[in-house]
Amino acid sequence: MTKVPTSRLDKLLANMGYASRREIQFLAKAGRIRLDGAPMKGADERIALTPDLETRLVVDGEALDPLPGFALMLNKPLGVTCSRKEAGALVYDLLPSRWRRREPAISTVGRLDKETSGLLLLTDDGALLHRIIAPSRHVPKVYRAHLARPLSGDEGALFASGTLMLDGEDKPLAPAELEVAGEREARLTVHEGRYHQVRRMFAAAGNHVEALHREAVGGLALPPDLEPGAIRRLTAADLDAIFAAP
Ligand code: URA
Repeated sequence: MTKVPTSRLDKLLANMGYASRREIQFLAKAGRIRLDGAPMKGADERIALTPDLETRLVVDGEALDPLPGFALMLNKPLGVTCSRKEAGALVYDLLPSRWRRREPAISTVGRLDKETSGLLLLTDDGALLHRIIAPSRHVPKVYRAHLARPLSGDEGALFASGTLMLDGEDKPLAPAELEVAGEREARLTVHEGRYHQVRRMFAAAGNHVEALHREAVGGLALPPDLEPGAIRRLTAADLDAIFAAP
């Protein structure tokens, strides 16, 4: 049987960004933290981190934020950067402010360019992050690209060849699958995550990507009802879908 981890109340809530450990002690003394309806007066008490804690533990009348070890999807809007410290709008600004103070921190699973929209995953679980981006897993990423010029018809074979070499690199790209979706529109499935990969692939084919949108990671598609800028917590089924062959 796996042992359920436990944590001191003040450490748990401080790491989840609620307040400093000292402030948590005051909140507890003031009866503002309740477990199963009863005030938890001792901030040094240990509690079991079972998933039901998210509904059983209430701070100032609000159910607990997600416990550590969770993942999210964001419909990344255009014009926001996957970085913590660049100037301008950042993806982390789209998270609730308390979540931005969490430890372990929530990080993007790989990156999308500032001018790429669509499915971006985030997690505070380092093992999960590495499982998704590990080259050995080949988790496919599906992009829809809108191109400046009509497709020539040769791109599919070029991208599938396994011999395409991008400028400045010394290893050819793994085969990728192209599906023509219009005269200047294509869906491209890649199994790596190289820098500006899709834009550079079309550049190598003599074209230019005007708009790029990520539709899916593994078998997990961006839900059509998730508005740009909106986030949604991943379920266990979503996580399974990432690793299931689409
Ligand atoms: N390929 C790109 O060129 N840009 C992205 O954001 C993702 C893949």
